[in-house]
Amino acid sequence: MKYKKKICQIKQLQSFYNLENSKRLKAYPVLKWAGGKMKLLPQIQKQYPSKLQQGSLKTYIEPFVGGASVFFDVYYHFNIEKAYFFDKNTELIILYKVIKNNAELLIDRLSKIKEKYLNLTEEKRKNFYYQSRNDYNTFDKKVDTDIHQRNWVERAALTIFLNRTCFNGLYRVNRKGLFNVPMGKYKNPAILNSSNIRAVSQALKIVEIKQCDFSEVLKYANKNTFIYYDPPYRSISKTATFNAYSSLDFKDNEQRRLRDLFIEVSKKGSYQMLSNSDPTNYIEDFFFDELYCEFNIKRILASRMINSKGNSRGKIREILVTNYSDYINKI
Ligand SMILES: C[S@@+](CC[C@H](N)C(=O)[O-])C[C@H]1O[C@@H](n2cnc3c(N)ncnc32)[C@H](O)[C@@H]1O
Repeated sequence: MKYKKKICQIKQLQSFYNLENSKRLKAYPVLKWAGGKMKLLPQIQKQYPSKLQQGSLKTYIEPFVGGASVFFDVYYHFNIEKAYFFDKNTELIILYKVIKNNAELLIDRLSKIKEKYLNLTEEKRKNFYYQSRNDYNTFDKKVDTDIHQRNWVERAALTIFLNRTCFNGLYRVNRKGLFNVPMGKYKNPAILNSSNIRAVSQALKIVEIKQCDFSEVLKYANKNTFIYYDPPYRSISKTATFNAYSSLDFKDNEQRRLRDLFIEVSKKGSYQMLSNSDPTNYIEDFFFDELYCEFNIKRILASRMINSKGNSRGKIREILVTNYSDYINKI
């Protein structure tokens, strides 16, 4: 009986992966990530270049990939053939490489963690969470992410487990690069979404995943390329700042370095979109208007949720910069 059940499972998986080759599956970000763009997608979609819809942009680059919300949308709606993920965050790069190459092993490991965790008492869940966080912080943060390591499936499973059970579901590290988010209060956290992991794995088959600085874009960009930049946002007030993705800072000099790259890449004929905060929400600060004065700047409305004090939530303007003006009509 057990053997028959296994065969049946394998047949189901095979038909799933056969499906994989014929139809692009709708995938969603695996992690909740600060600055995630899922809510802004309807407004970002309207600013996609019409060339994307016409099918002439075959390559896509996301040099600040985070949760990759925009990539999954572009992959599903347009026939891009090649994509590049860049990010400085070690755990993110390992997670994407494991989902791309070892999705079934990851699903197996996560389903064991989920089963164990959900059957624990509240007190024991707490011990399990903080023990997992300690184990997670023992992993070598300086590992070479170009060379696959045996513990990567475990590492990726813990990245998802901690993201799904921590406070506010947010990835944050301290100055030493250690994950330091306290446990969240979820009765039945959504630890494993196996069909989405498989859909993400399908999408990642066209993606080259690299742990590197955003300036790598210059090596891959050409006139058939669409690039979406979503850097750590510039702080616009004492409270509304978040850059704890890694122990690295992303201050105004980095924003200027990014602008210089944006100009260089424009000369290659690539189509570029960039999002960032809008300092004019609070003060007469035209930092980005001056920085990107030769490009198109559109202001869009976004909901700010990343704040433990409920009173700091609500609508706020953000900016979208593009180096083209022929936008798609409708997806
Ligand atoms: C705002 S988040 C991107 C969010 C993403 N668009 C999403 O939908 O989830 C910015 C990302 O930039 C990464 N980052 C910070 N400095 C970087 C650099 N110099 N080069 C590449 N990535 C960097 C951070 O690790 C973080 O994942």
